[in-house]
Amino acid sequence: MSNSDFGLIGLAVMGQNLVLNVESRGFQVSVFNRTTATTDAFVAAHPDKKLVGTKSLEEFVQSLASPRKIMIMVKAGGPVDAVIESLIPLIDQGDIIIDGGNSLYTDTERRDKWLGDLGFRFIGAGVSGGEEGARKGPAIMPGGPASTWDVMKPIFESIAAKAEGEPCVTHIGPGGAGHYVKMIHNGIEYGDMQLICEAYNIFKAAGFSAAELATVFTDWNNGDLESYLIQITAEIFKQTDPETGNPIVDMVLDTAGQKGTGKWTIMNAVENAVVCSTINAAVEARILSSMKEKRVAASTELQGPETTLSADKAELVKKVHDALYASKIISYAQGLDLITTMSAEKDWNLDLGKIAAIWRGGCIIRARFLNDITAAYRTNPELSNLMLAPFFKDLLNGFQQNWREVVSMATLAGIPVPAFSASLGYYDSYRSAVLPANLLQSQRDFFGAHTYERTDKPRGEFFHTDWPEVIG
Ligand code: 6PG
Repeated sequence: MSNSDFGLIGLAVMGQNLVLNVESRGFQVSVFNRTTATTDAFVAAHPDKKLVGTKSLEEFVQSLASPRKIMIMVKAGGPVDAVIESLIPLIDQGDIIIDGGNSLYTDTERRDKWLGDLGFRFIGAGVSGGEEGARKGPAIMPGGPASTWDVMKPIFESIAAKAEGEPCVTHIGPGGAGHYVKMIHNGIEYGDMQLICEAYNIFKAAGFSAAELATVFTDWNNGDLESYLIQITAEIFKQTDPETGNPIVDMVLDTAGQKGTGKWTIMNAVENAVVCSTINAAVEARILSSMKEKRVAASTELQGPETTLSADKAELVKKVHDALYASKIISYAQGLDLITTMSAEKDWNLDLGKIAAIWRGGCIIRARFLNDITAAYRTNPELSNLMLAPFFKDLLNGFQQNWREVVSMATLAGIPVPAFSASLGYYDSYRSAVLPANLLQSQRDFFGAHTYERTDKPRGEFFHTDWPEVIG
């Protein structure tokens, strides 16, 4: 019977949880998985739900009401194309395919054109919130034609998280805009996570126990740093390893994985000449962490100070709070700057206020201060940089002394703080009316006659000096 409201292909945990979420909002959902046993087990585990398990793609497609709404939750890259290829001969004009994975936005643009040319409709939707978010309410970032969004809106709005009463989903923009914004979300997620790790590393050097760390992060989560990532960090510090009795965090090997969205963000930032130094530091910190053997070998070769800090703990907590919050503002300022730049470049007309608003709930970077970011862009949609919004400008002015002290203290103790210092470096560079690029331009003109503009002449006039020859 062709009567399911929604279909989902790919029953890994995210897919399963999204299905249960959609079903719980009153929709009948058809499911298909390459391994039929997974489909059977999933449907059998939920006998009282309006689920239709299907054993072939044909059966799956036939079970859906028109226009069909088919969400694909498979690994980004080739698998998405493979599923689309096999759907094409089976579906009808006007049917909608939604890719809910972490696809590269340029792949989404290609698929948008490919399917559009064939008369099908395509939505590239970033979905954030992990397994729990998928079940209880994720943030969703759909891109594609506005008319297709209108068809999907009731389902998406019903399954999305709610923040301040508003669903954490909005039509982001055309083509690849949804997956693009999800990519930046993930880049910001990388920055947030690294900044938290640097705070932890400083506290560790000052002798904080896991229990003390749990208290610090719990307290922070009750204040202006309230966020999902701070909250789960507090929970992590409370967990004991059943095998050893040690805090579980001490038993986890210090090598980070990454699937690529952070790297994509950085590559896109460089292509657009936008500085995302905090996210870059976060990506590089993961790379350095993964070089475990080289680091262990170098640790006995390359010297540094004792990585211990003697500081008043309460005072240190306050200072690191300020450094973390300030750096976090910088990270978001950079990510949002990149969105603004790409929006203009691609004519996407992205609404930063709406994007910040849907990040307030459901997603991994949800945080109290996204209310303030939302307000900043709602007040001034043309805001050139988040740092300059009055609310954030005042915070940065207030935090900067402690921020400097934390970066200096850590640097003197040999504790790596690449994201804290990249953020501070950006702040100091951005607020410098004069930078040493006059010397850089002199060097360029010296060896390559690249010319320079002068401080005493109008912009756009270029000069060259006959520099002396250098021998040797
Ligand atoms: C989310 C997460 C999700 C996933 C990332 C992790 O928003 O729900 O970002 O998309 O956990 O892919 O990325 P890394 O494996 O690169 O850390």
